[in-house]
Amino acid sequence: MNKSILPVLVFLFGLSGGISKARPVTNDFGITQQGDDQMKWFKDAKFGMFIHWGLYTVPAKGEWLMGKTGMPPKQYRKYAYDQGDGDYFDAKNYDPAAWAKIAKDSGMKYMCLTARHHDGFALFDSHFTNAFTSVQTLHRDLYAKYVKACRAAGLRVGLYFSPIDWRYPGYFDVWGTNCLPNSWHYQTDPAHKENARIMKEEVYEQVRMLFKNYGPFDYIFWDGGWLGQKGSDRDAAFFWEPGKYLDPNNPWPVDAKYRDVDESGRPLGLMGIARKYSPNVICDNRSGWIGDFAVNEGNNPVTGPIRPYYWEKCMNLNKSSWGYNSRQYLETYDEIVATLVNCVVRNGNLLLNFGPDQHGVIPPSHAALTRRVGAWLEIVGDSIYGTRGGPWNPVDGRYGFTFKSGKYFVHLLSGYEGTEFTTPAISEKVMGCRDLFTGGKLNYTVNAGGALHITGLNRMAHPADTVVMITVRKSS
Ligand code: GLC
Repeated sequence: MNKSILPVLVFLFGLSGGISKARPVTNDFGITQQGDDQMKWFKDAKFGMFIHWGLYTVPAKGEWLMGKTGMPPKQYRKYAYDQGDGDYFDAKNYDPAAWAKIAKDSGMKYMCLTARHHDGFALFDSHFTNAFTSVQTLHRDLYAKYVKACRAAGLRVGLYFSPIDWRYPGYFDVWGTNCLPNSWHYQTDPAHKENARIMKEEVYEQVRMLFKNYGPFDYIFWDGGWLGQKGSDRDAAFFWEPGKYLDPNNPWPVDAKYRDVDESGRPLGLMGIARKYSPNVICDNRSGWIGDFAVNEGNNPVTGPIRPYYWEKCMNLNKSSWGYNSRQYLETYDEIVATLVNCVVRNGNLLLNFGPDQHGVIPPSHAALTRRVGAWLEIVGDSIYGTRGGPWNPVDGRYGFTFKSGKYFVHLLSGYEGTEFTTPAISEKVMGCRDLFTGGKLNYTVNAGGALHITGLNRMAHPADTVVMITVRKSS
């Protein structure tokens, strides 16, 4: 589902393989989008590891179980404690260094772990009265370990945080006058307005906590400002105040005790806090603020032309759900490769999600699958990392292009049949052409218009994506 507002920014490409021009930046709610310099690592990285991990791993039916069934928070809390059968969120084999190793072996350059999902359970420390955290249940700050491991592995550190909190009926009824439909059958109640305010206060206390004590972060995945799971994140900005400052007249004021302020003492909104402590952080567009990059969520295929804005697709490795699920329905190796390539040729990134179990283990079959992707990237990484999509538009399901200085790459997907390919016209002098996976030289002719006709392609060596590297004389 696309709950996003797309940045209306134009990102122009030189058709002869020149480096893409700077994108204009927009100021939204007092915060200016990061420019190309801060976005560069993200544009170069292409592939990241998403992790959903929390109490929902115990029933193993995905992270939406509580929300779908309307499970009372009191009952849900039981997953955090041993009920005598040893089946609870014990995190006993939690080793974020092992996760980071899987990410690295899989060719991923950044990680993003759910600090808190819609159930409100925090993997970090929080002193808010209603907070429910792993520090309380296990006496362990799981998030601090994650951040440390991620940094130690040389990966960029991402924070996922959901303002949504199903523990609060007020989430569905912020005005206390019009309760939205919900699985718990909460009805309109004037007391919900204060309940919603407290929910917001908890978000502010926790976001400050995270940025002050765990940062700096490189990346934030805000998930879902949308209220009562209706409308867009933007529609809910009046409530969460995702921009630079808090409005002193907002009907849901955050108590001074939980606020953060700028150097002049003015109270900060969510992005104000984020940027205060992590000035270079880049954020998605799901808090109600415009975002530095757009999110394309889900396992559906990536199609269409090169997208003229920064974007990232997030997708589940186990299609069943984001959180650990006993139902295993995995993406195949070929699907993962094709999705990554389909993002990159359209100038996007892929954030691939893993759901470790209640003990903290990423299922070995999941790790083995993405390690295969990593082994392939080890060979053809030049055609992915540090490239830009284009300069020519892809053809859905069949092929696409990437480029960097002095090189063009043709990605022939499984839907492309044949052992020959003709490129659009190339203006620079062609110096050579090879199959990047096999390393073999390829025969080609250049026609009068500058198009390259390549023959003798080996489509069997790596059917998910045959990568052709065309080297050209660098334009000075
Ligand atoms: C949706 C879902 C959530 C998941 C997220 C990942 O917003 O509510 O469960 O974490 O997508 O993009």
